[in-house]
Amino acid sequence: MQTELFTSSDPHWLGKQVVVLPGFVLDRFERLLPALRQIVLAAPFRNMTTPGGRTIAVRVTNCGELGWISDLHGYRYSPVDPLSGKPWPALPEVFLELARSAAHSAGFEDFTADACLINSYLPGNRLTLHQDRNERDFSQPIVSVSLGLPATFLLGGHTRAERTQRVALQHGDVMVWGGEDRLRFHGILPLQDGRHPVLGARRINFTLRKAG
Ligand code: SIN
Ligand code: FE2
Repeated sequence: MQTELFTSSDPHWLGKQVVVLPGFVLDRFERLLPALRQIVLAAPFRNMTTPGGRTIAVRVTNCGELGWISDLHGYRYSPVDPLSGKPWPALPEVFLELARSAAHSAGFEDFTADACLINSYLPGNRLTLHQDRNERDFSQPIVSVSLGLPATFLLGGHTRAERTQRVALQHGDVMVWGGEDRLRFHGILPLQDGRHPVLGARRINFTLRKAG
């Protein structure tokens, strides 16, 4: 039986291979939070720059063998944190297990993440429509975990111009997209003000990927 603290409900399919798993991470949150804190101590959140020279408002960091970076030279994955010159912190076991088990629930077997991009949104921060296409193998899904303040995720189609659907994401939800939906455009509407009892006035999202 589920307790009131950990309420998860049935998967919500938004397309053939894109699904929201409501509350999927809630029963792991207690183990996940210290791991996240360790990562952020070793590799702090920072603002990156777009290849065009604009500052990305959402602050990011990474863990795993590879980390997503952006600077004047472009978007790519790097085995080292450009701030420290050292490898990114390792992917904690609780992240790896979560990635594998969420991917399995979405119909993707044997998913082994080697990269995890962690985003920190403050109220007002948004993420404009984009595709995740810096990874090498598009047969592998993206597993996306939402913590803290709720957000509205925009799920588009395979071109930027296509209509988007709005998806409400709450603390503890996991979204998985892959297969024919792997390259769909997506983004986040400006984060609304609010306060989460544990994480405060912010949203943390992390995406587990197979980048290399
Ligand atoms: C992303 O597309 O990298 C993040 C999506 C999210 O914050 O939910
Ligand atoms: Fe993305």
